Amino acid sequence: MKEILEQLEARRAVARVGGGERRIESQHKRGKLTARERIDLFLDEGSFEEFDMFVEHRCTEFGMDQSKIPGDGVVTGWGTVNGRTVFVFAKDFTVFGGSLSETHAQKITKIQDMALKNRAPVIGLFDAGGARIQEGVAALGGYGEVFQRNVMASGVIPQISVIMGPCAGGDVYSPAMTDFIFMVRDTSYMFVTGPDVVKTVTNETVTAEELGGASVHTVKSSISDGAYDNDVEALIQMRRLMDFLPANNEEGVPELPSFDDPERIEASLDTLIPDNPNKPYDIKELITKVADEGDFFEIQAAFAGNIVTGFGRVAGRTVGFVANQPMVLAGVLDSDASRKAARFVRFCDCFSIPIVTFVDVPGFLPGTAQEYGGLIKHGAKLLFAYAEATVPKVTVITRKAYGGAYDVMASKHLRGDVNYAWPTAEIAVMGPKGAAEILYRAELDDPEKIAGRIQDYTDRFANPFVAAERGYIDEVIMPQSTRKRISRALDMLRNKHLENPWKKHDNIPL
Ligand code: HXC
Repeated sequence: MKEILEQLEARRAVARVGGGERRIESQHKRGKLTARERIDLFLDEGSFEEFDMFVEHRCTEFGMDQSKIPGDGVVTGWGTVNGRTVFVFAKDFTVFGGSLSETHAQKITKIQDMALKNRAPVIGLFDAGGARIQEGVAALGGYGEVFQRNVMASGVIPQISVIMGPCAGGDVYSPAMTDFIFMVRDTSYMFVTGPDVVKTVTNETVTAEELGGASVHTVKSSISDGAYDNDVEALIQMRRLMDFLPANNEEGVPELPSFDDPERIEASLDTLIPDNPNKPYDIKELITKVADEGDFFEIQAAFAGNIVTGFGRVAGRTVGFVANQPMVLAGVLDSDASRKAARFVRFCDCFSIPIVTFVDVPGFLPGTAQEYGGLIKHGAKLLFAYAEATVPKVTVITRKAYGGAYDVMASKHLRGDVNYAWPTAEIAVMGPKGAAEILYRAELDDPEKIAGRIQDYTDRFANPFVAAERGYIDEVIMPQSTRKRISRALDMLRNKHLENPWKKHDNIPL
């Protein structure tokens, strides 16, 4: 018996070193942790239950039958994050470069199936060279199986991808179908085809970083939702993110003990809005003053800064914040901002996360660049996302809510549940100057007259009361009481029940 136990331990020891000490050392030299080190950091200590440690590939081509490593390039299993179950797979770059074989794919799909069956999130840690070249179509088939499961799980359980090394070819599309992608700066990159193929096809010379590093995907392409300086920080932040997320689309948001009074009055908010309506202020100040303990997990911080999205808590329960940011492009809605916020709103709606929207928006961004780039369709994404969302929606207009952007930003007309405005709100078709210049075009060469017209328009419309008179705004509130009002509204909306008509699925303008 003792011998048998020792044999098991010996086999486990072999599997645990993956591709061997030399490759582990090379991984460390590049500033990267190994797959098992990453899993250990991400999960609660000692909670990891590994599956399929002894799985080996079945390939016989190119001498592969002489080269087998237990685990086959991916470490899979489940564990807990602050006590809550999560399924995990981590590509092991030390084994065939983490490349995906038929059996490697089967290990991942087993985890995906278990996560879906047990309604728990799944997180994938990527560090891999794409399809196992020696396996050909068997590897392609494996990817297809993973992709199909990504789609089936979408909207049922949260799926998160963290890119911690190369991620190329077949490896990019599974993350692309998950809810969030995070990257590690300088050591990770993602692209469909690498620099060599790019050079051959388009004659462009680029480095891996220039083509698909974190700086590209967090700032330019918006493929990635955030980036961290190293593996350790990324994994700690993923633990923090998990705490905000429900386990599935039926469980409802997690509730954490909060020591922050939900009715806390924040006197400083009474002076947040500058006297000059064209002066910016930082909307994140409002978010952090409303959220429990100022804790805000921002999504896509480096992309389309004119809109801010992310998770916080109010009275211990997760909410999704969406807010126009006056500090960037005056908070205007453009294609990027619309796409960014639409995806976030839809994530919240999938997972029953109430949405709190702060509005200070001068409208949609005019110009050929925007129109040629499909602003109508991209803007419609956000409109669509808010309109179809059935989760509790609480909206506060702090200053401008002009034109179509007023409608889009979780207005009453899109089934906003509780819509508040600060006394500084200006709800109108457009700003007073623009309005007067259109209505009184004939008086344009008389500055005094036009100034009077602008003043008239300001007096009539640059306030929240016209909307409040119609019931489009439920109440004009004191800025200092915003957290209390939101908290009470969310409490009232806790049992909200609203269903859209049956449909196979909608047809959001993609
Ligand atoms: C088999 C692979 C591999 C692969 C890397 N390795 N990629 N083995 N299949 N796809 C192995 C290497 O042979 C090497 O083995 C070890 O992993 C480490 O690789 P290195 O090249 O030494 O490492 P590095 O210099 O860091 O380069 C990493 C890399 C490079 C950039 C990822 O390995 C690379 O370009 N690999 C190929 C990428 C690729 O074209 N993949 C196929 C994409 S097509 P030893 O034994 O020396 O340690 C695809 C189609 C699917 O994925 C489409 C589905 C939709």
